[in-house]
Amino acid sequence: MKPDIDTINRQLKHSSVEAVLDHFLTAYQGKIGFSTSFGAEDQVLNDLLHRQQKAIKIFTLDTGRLPYETYDVMDETNKKYGIKIDVYTPKSSDLQALYKTQGINGFYESIENRKRCCYVRKIAPLQRALKGLEVWITGLRQEQSVTRGHLELVEYDDTHGLIKLNPLVRWSETDIWDYIAAHNVPYNKLHDAGYPSIGCAPCTRAVAKGEDVRAGRWWWEEPEHKECGLHIKSA
Ligand code: ADX
Ligand code: SF4
Repeated sequence: MKPDIDTINRQLKHSSVEAVLDHFLTAYQGKIGFSTSFGAEDQVLNDLLHRQQKAIKIFTLDTGRLPYETYDVMDETNKKYGIKIDVYTPKSSDLQALYKTQGINGFYESIENRKRCCYVRKIAPLQRALKGLEVWITGLRQEQSVTRGHLELVEYDDTHGLIKLNPLVRWSETDIWDYIAAHNVPYNKLHDAGYPSIGCAPCTRAVAKGEDVRAGRWWWEEPEHKECGLHIKSA
């Protein structure tokens, strides 16, 4: 049954991020997962979740086109916290079909091609990763872009049929970096090189000072198109 999201949001409105995580980890044991791209927000969440000392599935989507620095922080994170984050990869038959139809870098040629690549490399693996889960935790924040301004702490994801929990939804970029510094959290070194938001290597560039934090993602597209489909609301 679809939960009453408005009521849950009202009940948790004044709760700390720790209390929110504790509530969901306890209520949805064995049915809760956290997807990490190893970006700054996800590293904060990973640290917060580690402190909770409760069971949770933590997974990443390895598209096969990630920057080296992302694999470095993945390794550092696994070692620091003594874990092995689950890795979901695209199916090789899907990759072959993608390659046959649009070549290796076809995503630069049209939005349609780009969305197809994101589907094969991210969405299809995500669907496999979310199977059996009732709650999906993400590092989304309202401030990140024009497409994310209306995000809530708790949402219902009709596409995947589960609760989506965005514990850092109202955190600012400063809050994120203050937490990382205070708790000595490992982070992707590309953040020091002007990359506030990091996805696949060929689709991410550095941004200039004052530029939007997601300006470097699919930089050749208009801002309203800059979602890969992981976080699209069905209506
Ligand atoms: S994206 O849709 O544009 O790629 P973004 O990089 O802002 O998303 O990340 C938002 C959230 O989506 C992250 O906090 C994380 O929960 C999830 N996410 C994005 N990319 C991945 C990935 N490769 N693996 C796992 N989760 C991811
Ligand atoms: Fe493909 Fe780029 Fe999407 Fe990565 S971000 S899946 S390389 S289109």
